[in-house]
Amino acid sequence: MDHKQLKEFPNDFLWGSASAAYQVEGAWQEDGKGASVWDDFVRIPGKTFKATNGDVAVDHYHRFKEDVALMKEQGLKTYRFSIAWTRIFPEGRGEVNQAGLDFYLALIDELIKAGIEPMVTLYHWDLPRTLQEEYGGWESRKIIEDFTNYAAVLFEAFRGKVHYWVSLNEQNIFTSLGYLLAAHPPGVTDPKRMYEVNHIANLANASVINKFHEMKIPGKIGPSFAYSPNYPINSDPKNILAAENAEDLMAHYWLDVYLWGEYPIAAMNYLNEQGIAPTIEPGDMDLLRSAKPDFLGINYYQTATNAYNPLDGVGAGKMNTTGKKGSSEETGTPGMFKKAENPFVERTNWDWEIDPQGLRIALRRITSRYRVPVIITENGLGEYDKLTDDHQIHDQYRIDYLAGHVHAIKEAISDGAEVLGYCTWSFTDLLSWLNGYQKRYGFVYVDQDETQEGSLARYKKDSFYWYQELIKTNGQEC
Ligand code: BG6
Repeated sequence: MDHKQLKEFPNDFLWGSASAAYQVEGAWQEDGKGASVWDDFVRIPGKTFKATNGDVAVDHYHRFKEDVALMKEQGLKTYRFSIAWTRIFPEGRGEVNQAGLDFYLALIDELIKAGIEPMVTLYHWDLPRTLQEEYGGWESRKIIEDFTNYAAVLFEAFRGKVHYWVSLNEQNIFTSLGYLLAAHPPGVTDPKRMYEVNHIANLANASVINKFHEMKIPGKIGPSFAYSPNYPINSDPKNILAAENAEDLMAHYWLDVYLWGEYPIAAMNYLNEQGIAPTIEPGDMDLLRSAKPDFLGINYYQTATNAYNPLDGVGAGKMNTTGKKGSSEETGTPGMFKKAENPFVERTNWDWEIDPQGLRIALRRITSRYRVPVIITENGLGEYDKLTDDHQIHDQYRIDYLAGHVHAIKEAISDGAEVLGYCTWSFTDLLSWLNGYQKRYGFVYVDQDETQEGSLARYKKDSFYWYQELIKTNGQEC
């Protein structure tokens, strides 16, 4: 659809940026913090790029005032960050660790003082180790109660200060990388377990959303989903069907549950045929249907292009975590789809497709199917950056990437999508879970690398100033 003139961004549009506790905080054993499954996983040889970990990360725990001052200088309207469950409950439940809570209260107060709306993610993958050991973490329904209690403590503690809450970050990623690809903790490759875990996570998500509404917390809550809209490689009907399969199994399988409390029919049929469908107990679907998110968070990085894949076809392949372009392996789901190379888009050094129009397509699809407001909770470019001798970082490629995506949002708004905000990934450079520190996303360069002995000094990149100007003009030039 072409428009004679694009609509402007709403005046209260939340221009933001994001991070996650494990990727920025460091201080992994300070002030009573317990261990998380990630603290253990990074110590298993071969799991992360050059054995990098978040022990120090970019030391946001000690430097949050400096970081918030930079956010203020840039003009951010919102900052999305996650809470480390193990700082609040070192063993996942029981007594609250006041020092942990105080850290986040101080961060929130600092943000509010700077005129920045805090946006809190309850869960960004760092599950307390104790819960994993005690009952298998997400594999047990016990987690529903523990996660809800943990969330309720935060809701009450931050009542009136935090108005935007993300329940689960990328449930589709932490369940599939954790239980299908063994790339995240607990390092399992068992599809049946994955779908069981995912169903329990759905129940926990629903329970927390209901709790938030029951407690009458002023504000909005929703999950963040990693959405890669699916395309067919061409108009051959069998490839079109492959893309439909992918959209059903890789997107609707989560989104329909979040928004409608239903599993999609074709995807569930496939899982039943394969003998890997989750166990649905009486009352489960009622709980899922009862929980209504106030917005949907979308983490958008790329689209996925699909081709036909027979039942004896290609399965899961390895991801590129080294930054060597072209090193990712072929991947697919037998009987459903396999990934194909889209000849019309560029790729990053980590083989992620660069497709701004895909974000417009994502917003259009969500608007048509679910009619729910969206916050883009992540979008950004992971690339190598070079610090010059005079401490500059000329990241025009990141500016081009972000500008293209902001324009696509403006087009989607003009098409009729309701978009409340946009958080880039990320504010400072940070630890990229599997890819070390060399894959950088931030507006602010941090002197930290694979040796993990950097000075941790912060330097503003060219993209910092570009976003500053964009916010000042409310995206008018994009
Ligand atoms: C999302 C996560 O999957 O993408 C972030 O929510 C993550 O935590 C980001 O860092 C980028 O992925 P990666 O693998 O390049 O760090």
